[in-house]
Amino acid sequence: MEYEEPKFFHVMQYAAAADGDVIDMVSGNPDWEPPAALREALRDYADLSPDAFQYPPSEGLRELREAIATRRGVDLDSVIVTNGTGEANYLAMARAFDRDAGDEALLTDPVYPYYPGKVSMLGGTSTLVPTERDGGLDVDAIAAAASDETALIALNTPNNPTGAVYDLDAIRAVVSVAERVDALVLVDEVYDHFDLSGEFESALTLDSDRVIVTSGFSKSMAITGFRVGYGVFPDGHVSAAKTRHMLVNVAGARPSQYAVTHALAETDPEYYADARDLLADRVDAFTDALDAAGAEYSRPEGAFYVLARFDDFPGTMANVKRLIDEVGVAGMPGEAFGHARGDWIRFALVTPRATEAAERLADHFGG
Ligand SMILES: Cc1ncc(COP(=O)(O)O)c(C=O)c1O
Repeated sequence: MEYEEPKFFHVMQYAAAADGDVIDMVSGNPDWEPPAALREALRDYADLSPDAFQYPPSEGLRELREAIATRRGVDLDSVIVTNGTGEANYLAMARAFDRDAGDEALLTDPVYPYYPGKVSMLGGTSTLVPTERDGGLDVDAIAAAASDETALIALNTPNNPTGAVYDLDAIRAVVSVAERVDALVLVDEVYDHFDLSGEFESALTLDSDRVIVTSGFSKSMAITGFRVGYGVFPDGHVSAAKTRHMLVNVAGARPSQYAVTHALAETDPEYYADARDLLADRVDAFTDALDAAGAEYSRPEGAFYVLARFDDFPGTMANVKRLIDEVGVAGMPGEAFGHARGDWIRFALVTPRATEAAERLADHFGG
């Protein structure tokens, strides 16, 4: 079977190989400091005794699972520490399909491209359901698309790429749809700390036995290379997910989990608030320059991304390469995120040069 590889690395490689100075707005890699306590814990780790260099419990270090359970207000047994949110999403999807409840996944359009990739890898089929124009959930469209074939409905909030933060009532309504067709709902909350209002409401508050919530520390602690995420699985699903996690990985990486555990305990809320403020400032500066470029754009309520549309310049791979070569700005083609935003280009604001990039775009398109 062939799996479609998400196109992020292709664009990043093209940008890296380009002549001239290119501002990388492709990846979702934070460019700011991780928590100080994380660096300290890593230094300490080097001097621990050899037993700290052996397998951790497969489901994750107990101290880390306890910290997650306490923070999220869930049962310790429901928490599995995974190799990033990406693995937690995979476990949730696998569980949805393993139940003999159909092989269809309903995904929003635009979609984070790893979702359809994973669905097809697991033998499922994806149906893309367009969101509202502002990126909000179109619950009626999801209800209309759902059928006995639907095993999974996957949501991501705050959303990559639209920046929308879903209304909890809309998620509740999607859960009702899932109940009707015997589907599970995956809610990927990896950008939970980047609801720019600072008041994110998790789908865990719905306390539903249909909902699997995933998240991680890649974004909140600026450590995409550490690979620490987690899933919170309802009773009937956690044991199967733990077994799959063990068979695929044996366990996660112990030093990463150790460092995150310490950072969780010792990092003040200001650390997260400062990162949000930094992003909010970048959103303002970037969108001001997009105004000057005469572009239409989405102002994100959360996550790291702005979708922009320039007249007569659709978000194709070819146009994205032209922007790299002619303007020195690298974004992601909208066509990589499904069908709904094919005219748009996604720019990640995780670079200190976001304003400069927007000025280059304004000079090119506005001038
Ligand atoms: C929506 C979404 N889910 C999951 C991930 C992957 O997160 P992690 O690094 O925790 O695996 C990303 C990364 O960009 C993402 O945008």
